[in-house]
Amino acid sequence: MSEKTYPSINDLTLEEKASLTSGGDAWHLQGVEAKGIPGYMITDGPHGLRKSNSATTGEVDLNNCVPATCFPPAAGLSSSWNPELIHQVGEAMAEECIQEKVAVILGPGVNIKRNPLGGRCFEYWSEDPYLAGHEAVGIVAGVQSKGVGTSLKHFAANNQETDRLRISANISQRALREIYFPAFEHIVKEAQPWTIMCAYNCINGVHAAQDHWLLTDVLRDEWGFQGIVMSDWGADHDRVASLNAGLNLEMPPSYTDDQIVYAARDGRIQPAQLDRMAQGMIDLVNKTRAAMSIEGYRFDIEAHDEVAHRAAIESMVLLKNDDAILPVANDAKVTVIGEFARTPRYQGGGSSHITPTKMTSFLDTLTERGVDAKFAPGFTLDLEPADPALEAEAVDAAKGADVVLMFLGLPEAAESEGFDRETLDMPAKQIALLEAVAAENKNVVVVLSNGSVVTVAPWAKNAKGILESWLLGQSGGPALADVLFGKVSPSGKLAQTIPFDINDDPSTINWPGEEGHVDYGEGVFVGYRYYDTYNKAVDYPFGFGLSYATFEVSDVKA
Ligand code: BGC
Repeated sequence: MSEKTYPSINDLTLEEKASLTSGGDAWHLQGVEAKGIPGYMITDGPHGLRKSNSATTGEVDLNNCVPATCFPPAAGLSSSWNPELIHQVGEAMAEECIQEKVAVILGPGVNIKRNPLGGRCFEYWSEDPYLAGHEAVGIVAGVQSKGVGTSLKHFAANNQETDRLRISANISQRALREIYFPAFEHIVKEAQPWTIMCAYNCINGVHAAQDHWLLTDVLRDEWGFQGIVMSDWGADHDRVASLNAGLNLEMPPSYTDDQIVYAARDGRIQPAQLDRMAQGMIDLVNKTRAAMSIEGYRFDIEAHDEVAHRAAIESMVLLKNDDAILPVANDAKVTVIGEFARTPRYQGGGSSHITPTKMTSFLDTLTERGVDAKFAPGFTLDLEPADPALEAEAVDAAKGADVVLMFLGLPEAAESEGFDRETLDMPAKQIALLEAVAAENKNVVVVLSNGSVVTVAPWAKNAKGILESWLLGQSGGPALADVLFGKVSPSGKLAQTIPFDINDDPSTINWPGEEGHVDYGEGVFVGYRYYDTYNKAVDYPFGFGLSYATFEVSDVKA
């Protein structure tokens, strides 16, 4: 791919240089037409392309996007522990960007799941920085191998939604270096993301967008980052301070480029710093020119759906399988209970929400495959109390079945970007329904749909089998049928501990902070590092996951 190196920074006027440091609108870079710099589109991310149909007008319309393959969000994909598969997902996303003329896709997000109540846990990879870095690097490398940029986000310590635009994450240097930085550091060194998005929050009192130590000393000077840093949407509160700290691009634009011009004139910004920041933007545009010049490209919808299907299969974690209740025999009498089987929750809410190219629910898949099963929704996907009529219908449907597949989980209203969850527990009406169904029929398998961990212990006695399926993207229905009926064996492993209770989590005592501050008092003891070190019991440990095979390991020596 030929990279053109024009124009030279010296060909630009002061005003043109300043203009490169903010967007043209909410979803475009600001071009300098006269100098041959196009204003390419950049948009979300991170588990598929979210290109608003109204993006050209700068209006955000989350519910009106061009169709794109919805891959499993990181909550699922992280359980695959399969970097090659993740690389393929990245390649497919890039092809969709090329078709839609999107130069940079905003993701992946590699912040640590510090506390399982975090509203964006579904978008993040793990409580473990090594796993997060070694998995998400596949997205960056895969996307960029096709000539499209990524935006590694949210740098750094963006671990909660409460007060998310200004909370100060107060963290020790050791915890930053050992827990909150390594995933970013690994990906920067391995794959050089073309862009990084800074976080909304402050770190130890300094806005990430204005943190010279973060954006320049650590990111560029220590790790050798070559790309540009953009603000999260609305995270740039002081154009001059941010540019001096090492922020190349304000997004979306506040139409204040004159502030940069004045500051450059009166010496508050040194000419060399403005040149560096503007040169970064020229370099970014040059890196993406080749892919953005491809005309008439159409991605293969079926092939990408197949990648999403494989990714969904590898995202599932089998937690329990008493009496080898799974896989379900092909001639078994099956009852399916739970609205999620008909109306799947397949992605998280917020800026990552995309419009899939197709969607097949588990129930649709059974119909397509000629499997005859009774169905009862059992509950509604809202936060309303239980409906006794739906419950009675479900219990009745469970009578006489060889196996009851119960699709339970968190409805979208319980979990999304923008707010943290208040409880780790499943909705009470679903737990009550499970108990009633299990009293009727002992052969219950629970299939969970949730973006972040839920407690399992309070209801596990009522299920012989438990399949944690997270959020599976658009091909979750067929993938679930493949796993539940034994076409493939589940192989996912937990990227996040399932504790018995939220109060067991080491960060809970300081969660979610108060008066603009959250103290990371647990230091490096995040997730399993705490449970292992202090010998605390958990329900399912990090790395847990059964398959349908049984085997024995013996004579192990370390
Ligand atoms: C989110 C980012 C996202 C951006 C653009 C922000 O609110 O934090 O993750 O990329 O919006 O949609």
